[in-house]
Amino acid sequence: MIRSVVTGVGGYLPEEVLTNADLARFVDTSDEWIQERTGIRQRHRAAPDQAVSDLAVEAARKALEAAGRSPADVDLIIVATTTPDLTFPAVATIVQRKLGCPVGIAFDIQAVCSGFVYALSTADGFVARGRSSCALVIGAETMTRLMDWSDRGTCVLFGDGAGAVVVEPGEGRGDASDRGLLGFALRADGTKQDLLYVDGGVSTNGQIGHLRMQGNQVFKQAVINISEAVTAAAADAGIAVSDVDWFIPHQANQRILNGVAHRLGIDEAKVISTVAEHANTSAASIPLALAQGIADGRIRPGQLVLLEAMGGGLTWGACTLRL
Ligand code: UT7
Repeated sequence: MIRSVVTGVGGYLPEEVLTNADLARFVDTSDEWIQERTGIRQRHRAAPDQAVSDLAVEAARKALEAAGRSPADVDLIIVATTTPDLTFPAVATIVQRKLGCPVGIAFDIQAVCSGFVYALSTADGFVARGRSSCALVIGAETMTRLMDWSDRGTCVLFGDGAGAVVVEPGEGRGDASDRGLLGFALRADGTKQDLLYVDGGVSTNGQIGHLRMQGNQVFKQAVINISEAVTAAAADAGIAVSDVDWFIPHQANQRILNGVAHRLGIDEAKVISTVAEHANTSAASIPLALAQGIADGRIRPGQLVLLEAMGGGLTWGACTLRL
């Protein structure tokens, strides 16, 4: 059978770093509170002239280089983002133009922090059915542009960045020894919309709006929902959670990462954490953490990796893959 194989991974973080101390200069918070409650030490912020497509292009170039591919090979681009350059066209088409990819398929996915997992599943639908031979799946965000900088309950939590993977078809036997995307669990519950949303939109008040969150309510949902999705995505791949070499969670809060690991009996040494340096980069956080784990030599070809996320919607999900 044809499997959708991740053949290259790349990440990009904008140059400017904002530390907790930098934020404490203009909002009533402290480095101590932020580190203790979230694990975050710093976040990156895009330059005023950087759009989210610029971040996406940087990550995509690195992923293509890692895969030994060029923009000319790409026939599908999916960008998971909640902070597009423009209301339309899709960021994916802007990335296509900036990279110089040929005419192909390009569109965005909006599932907020779960966007990258949703995008991978969508790409699998094209690649494994023979409708794409080289797909770019990108998570890219400029979350700092959605912050209310007077709201200490949210503005300390988010950062900007992008991560990308190249997905190509590969032969598999149809079992969990195959390389590629092996299992998914995708979920949404629109009744919890009020817990995490942006209070602006094209068809409502015509504003960009600011991110609003009932943090402690989201926190409670996160550990339960993510744990269920992780177990389901492992079962979908025909493996046990204990078989997984590396867990790559959405990087929202170190306490959520620890809570999920504890609930599922996962050794914390198997959990890739970038939340201290990147904060919450929404749809970019999983591919950025994957890129970091590969770059520092921890994650190696052939290993089993499990990705998971939860965000606005609420949406959540998980993906099992073998690199
Ligand atoms: O990516 C999408 C998914 N998002 C998440 O998963 C985020 C989930 N939520 C969280 O990570 C945590 O709930 C937060 C980090 C947002 C908040 O932590 P918490 O332990 O749930 O705190 P809390 O909201 O219950 O607030 C506790 C106290 C409050 O003060 P009082 O009312 O007890 O006097 C807040 O006003 O902490 C206060 N507080 C702060 N203090 C200093 C809230 N934010 C800050 C701050 N600095 N930045």
